Amino acid sequence: MNFLAKIFGKTEKTRSALGVDIGSSSLKVVQLSRKNGAIVLETYGELSLGPYGKVEIGQATNLPADTIATTLIDLLHEANVTTNDCGVSIPASRSLLTFTELPRRDNPEEQKTVIELEARKYIPVPISEVHLDWFVLPDVPSSSESETKTPLKNINVLLVAVHNDEIQLLDTVVKKANLAATFFEIEIFSTIRSVVDETVKPIMIIDIGSASTKVYIVERGVVATSHAIPHGGQDVTRAISASSGIDIAHAEQSKKEEGITGAEQGEHRIATETTFSNIFAEAKRVMLQFEHEKKRSVTAIVLTGGGGVTKGLGEYAQNFFAVETRVADPFAKTQAPEFIRPVLKEIGPEFSVAVGIALRKLEEFN
Ligand SMILES: Nc1ncnc2c1ncn2[C@@H]1O[C@H](COP(=O)(O)OP(=O)(O)OP(=O)(O)O)[C@@H](O)[C@H]1O
Ligand SMILES: [Mg+2]
Repeated sequence: MNFLAKIFGKTEKTRSALGVDIGSSSLKVVQLSRKNGAIVLETYGELSLGPYGKVEIGQATNLPADTIATTLIDLLHEANVTTNDCGVSIPASRSLLTFTELPRRDNPEEQKTVIELEARKYIPVPISEVHLDWFVLPDVPSSSESETKTPLKNINVLLVAVHNDEIQLLDTVVKKANLAATFFEIEIFSTIRSVVDETVKPIMIIDIGSASTKVYIVERGVVATSHAIPHGGQDVTRAISASSGIDIAHAEQSKKEEGITGAEQGEHRIATETTFSNIFAEAKRVMLQFEHEKKRSVTAIVLTGGGGVTKGLGEYAQNFFAVETRVADPFAKTQAPEFIRPVLKEIGPEFSVAVGIALRKLEEFN
């Protein structure tokens, strides 16, 4: 599979960066390098966790570190990954993102204390059990206010907490797979890096995974709101299976072949549309609440995650939200042979997180 590297004549000196995305239904890896200023796609691959967890392909799993590591070793081998320099994603479901407004302090130490005290209110477990991080969000005046040069009295902070158990699990996976990870990153931030080009206006990302759909609005390059919906691609498959009376494996296959609009049989189409419209209805509530609070409109929607690959979903979403919608194309940021472009464009949404991680890893080399 490392034919991509061969085509681009990778030299000995090139350092490769690996992005690892540990999803609930599958693992994805992407290996990138930099050549003459361009970002080169060296290899990529995906392996379903289902068969390792005794569930069907496409269904979500909850596996111990050992099994994830075994799967990852298989994938690294299959995809011909040639580096162990990597970063790894943290699932959004294992992290807590909270937005809060706090008094501004000029002294950074004082500011830190204010933020940490506030964090205690939001985090449902002792602070010692989590890794805590935060970002001070840029001041964005509402449309009724004019841009002001004097700093506002309060700051808006995004608090991020990840349970120590999750970090421990990732550490074990990385060690057992013989990788060297320099960072773990919550998948939302990885996706933003690989799919968001709009630097000012609000856009909404809908990451349709297996068991859940992550919805977040990004403004001026940073997350302004985030929400998890406990339904995803596996529910589409289950709905098709139940309504058409076929087993999960066949329903999964049918979903991939027919997409949302292509199905001849009424049951398939109704099952698919009903599941997606329920997911989208919740995403729309998130969008409307944001627009109501901030008095700014979401200007575009990006569909990502495996569910984003669903045939016809981009058009369906565009009609549903009445907002310009595109399907994520994270490989567009990379150089690859023309003949694999159509494949990369089609499967791209599944790899948004892995590409985003690899891009950050590549930055580290500079
Ligand atoms: N061609 C396709 N058409 C429709 N659905 C697809 C297609 N390819 C993959 N999927 C669905 O995408 C889902 C998996 O998406 P993804 O790989 O983003 O999930 P994950 O990262 O493992 O899960 P999560 O992000 O929730 O932890 C599965 O339910 C799968 O059936
Ligand atoms: Mg995922």
